[in-house]
Amino acid sequence: MRNGSNEIKGKLYGVGIGPGDPKLLTLRAKEILNEVKTIFVPKASEGGKSCARSIVEALALGDKNFIELTFPMTKDKNKLQSYWLNAAKIIVEELKKNKAAAFVTIGDPFIYSTYIYLLETLRSNFPYLETETIPGISAFGAAAASIGLPLLKGDEKMAILPVVKNLKGLKEALKEFDTVVLMKIGSKLESIIRLLKKMKLLASSVLISHAGQANERIVRDLASLEDKNLGYLSVIIVRNISRRGHFPNPNRRGHFPSALSRSPLKESVPYPKVGAE
Ligand SMILES: C[S@@+](CC[C@H](N)C(=O)[O-])C[C@H]1O[C@@H](n2cnc3c(N)ncnc32)[C@H](O)[C@@H]1O
Repeated sequence: MRNGSNEIKGKLYGVGIGPGDPKLLTLRAKEILNEVKTIFVPKASEGGKSCARSIVEALALGDKNFIELTFPMTKDKNKLQSYWLNAAKIIVEELKKNKAAAFVTIGDPFIYSTYIYLLETLRSNFPYLETETIPGISAFGAAAASIGLPLLKGDEKMAILPVVKNLKGLKEALKEFDTVVLMKIGSKLESIIRLLKKMKLLASSVLISHAGQANERIVRDLASLEDKNLGYLSVIIVRNISRRGHFPNPNRRGHFPSALSRSPLKESVPYPKVGAE
């Protein structure tokens, strides 16, 4: 199915809304969310909650038409494609009526986001549709800033790895790169900790969960971590001391020397687990 006409009047904004702190939203993102009437929000299951929607609702933007689009957590490519196409059609129908709408995504839209697949589907099926992507602060940037840990300097190299399926390539990356960021940790937390221990990198690693949110948690002592579910909505940053000589010591709050104490450790509060966002 191809849309060769230009009957679509509206424009879709793919808006990165950052890690969850309303203050970490860009001015452009706020401007667009204020302007549009319809905001599309992704979620992982029909009955589930949308993490992105909770973040946007906390902005108190007034009366908005939220449309939830489901993108299930499945490896079945055909099934996923049918959901992307269905979502694309819903968006296009809306843009025949309205001059603009936004699809929001946590962090940055071009980093491991469902928005990427949606955009590809829109581009190939509705080539006349106008789109614009608004960058957002990614989880790993927010996490590093939160603990005051510089990620890269001089000629250093960084790798970002998703560990949702397995730990393939992680050992090599930990040897090769000065900084390694692990995302989509989920149920792989324990095996990651085992590998870091084996490679004597535990002291060089920090886990930051719900960065930039009220229930942010910083875990320095990964070996003693009891909450094995903490892998959800978390990143692990490894600064390889064997390559770079030192790893800054955190203060009592778990922050590193250069950190501004922006948000002290807060009690963990229930928060929807993020899926395909
Ligand atoms: C589907 S990816 C989305 C990444 C997002 N587009 C970004 O730029 O951060 C979801 C993964 O991002 C990370 N993530 C997203 N928000 C986070 C947060 N507030 N704190 C820690 N990690 C987060 C987690 O690793 C999670 O498994």
